[in-house]
Amino acid sequence: MIIAIDGPAASGKGTLARRLAAHFGLRHLDTGLTYRAVAAALLVKGLPLGDEAVAVEVARNLDLAQMDKSVLSAHEIGEAASRVAVLGELRNELVKLQQKFAATPPGAVLDGRDIGTVVCPNADVKLFVTASVAARARRRTDEILSKGKEADYASVLEDLKRRDARDSGRTVAPLKQAEDAHLLDTTEMDIESAFKAAVDIVSRARLS
Ligand code: CDP
Repeated sequence: MIIAIDGPAASGKGTLARRLAAHFGLRHLDTGLTYRAVAAALLVKGLPLGDEAVAVEVARNLDLAQMDKSVLSAHEIGEAASRVAVLGELRNELVKLQQKFAATPPGAVLDGRDIGTVVCPNADVKLFVTASVAARARRRTDEILSKGKEADYASVLEDLKRRDARDSGRTVAPLKQAEDAHLLDTTEMDIESAFKAAVDIVSRARLS
């Protein structure tokens, strides 16, 4: 079974994906981390984020098991990741890795921006998780503060708007809801209600 979850930054799709995977006994891949890992490697080498030849090389050698979420989830790396994510050849490499992960038994939950549209167009269930940009900025600000770092709501809001525009506006694999995806708007939901709603959608889809 493959569950595809897409949505904009800080919509809560990562937490939902992790919990759905645990609930249904599936493996989980946060595909955002693959773009973050490539961006972080370019930053460490002091190279421009548009250096596609190096980005592709890094992607070819990427070991999914070695990605360090605690380092890669930094807010600034998200911005850099969305800048490398416009590179078509790089996306081809990462999509191959992600599809290999998805095809490995017993199945998987993948979350990202193009899972239902490009990576796993034949997924058994597709969810498009969203929330108002204000709610997402609030959540992301609280998340950064809870890690003991500084964050300011207004600049996080601007960052998310810029990233949404770049992710939705790019020509290759833009962020968009697949036609057969179930929409889950979590603006008014806490994580527990969002999780219950997602389990309901997946359980119903499995029966049909
Ligand atoms: O956690 P957050 O929602 O902030 O971001 P993320 O899911 O880690 O993704 C970081 C960036 O990677 C996004 O802004 C996208 O530009 C890019 N990305 C993508 O293009 N395709 C994916 N399947 C996943 C992420």
